[in-house]
Amino acid sequence: MRKNIVAGNWKMNNDLAATKTLISELIELKKTSNSEIMIAPTFVNLLEASKLLKETSIQVVSQNMHYAESGAFTGEISAKMLKAVGVNAVILGHSERREYFNEDDLILKEKVDKALQESMDVIFCFGEQLDDRNSENHFKVVESQIKNALFHLPSSSWKSVILAYEPVWAIGTGQTASPEQAQEMHAYIRKLVAEHYNTSISEDVSILYGGSVKPENAKEIFGKLDVDGGLIGGAALDAKSFMAIINSF
Ligand code: 13P
Repeated sequence: MRKNIVAGNWKMNNDLAATKTLISELIELKKTSNSEIMIAPTFVNLLEASKLLKETSIQVVSQNMHYAESGAFTGEISAKMLKAVGVNAVILGHSERREYFNEDDLILKEKVDKALQESMDVIFCFGEQLDDRNSENHFKVVESQIKNALFHLPSSSWKSVILAYEPVWAIGTGQTASPEQAQEMHAYIRKLVAEHYNTSISEDVSILYGGSVKPENAKEIFGKLDVDGGLIGGAALDAKSFMAIINSF
């Protein structure tokens, strides 16, 4: 059975004090939930977040990592360093990493491999630009992003993979994909996984939707058959709205 997951990607927001405040608000507001909850603070606040959330079911996730074991990669962070501060999952392939830091399918494939080798879970992001959708190339674009970075994996690795469809035109724009557009793409992705692997893997993999999810639209989006949760940006920076999204299931 696949899991419902709501993950907050804090991006480059919240200094140490704001991180502590938001986490204590989340702990206070959190009720029992059937969904897995994850938050991804910035690198420098991961240790503190791990400590504060240690006794809770909220999981701390990194927004990025390097593919190498260690070495001369100034400014980078390795999988082992993340694990040493209690972080066992990582977001890879976010469109902001692809666009502003030139991360391509090849680099992402290496990062995925490294994370899995270190027994970390991977939230793998992909999604089309507006031009791709307008030219009806969105299925093709998403298909190649997934195939190039993930379809070399053995079946056994898929238990550690979470997929996140984030149409670039919906990120931070307030213009969310319609529940029907999300469902259509998620069903397509599940079919791709079934064709390349099998239906047991495709039915078990959680596929999250990301892009302007808010308390007002979460219920309708999460209500779709193949949408198993969300990757939330802006609305995850406010404890009440993040919890309202979590409680939309
Ligand atoms: P917004 O929810 O702010 O649109 O961001 C989505 C996102 O990029 C999550 O990774």
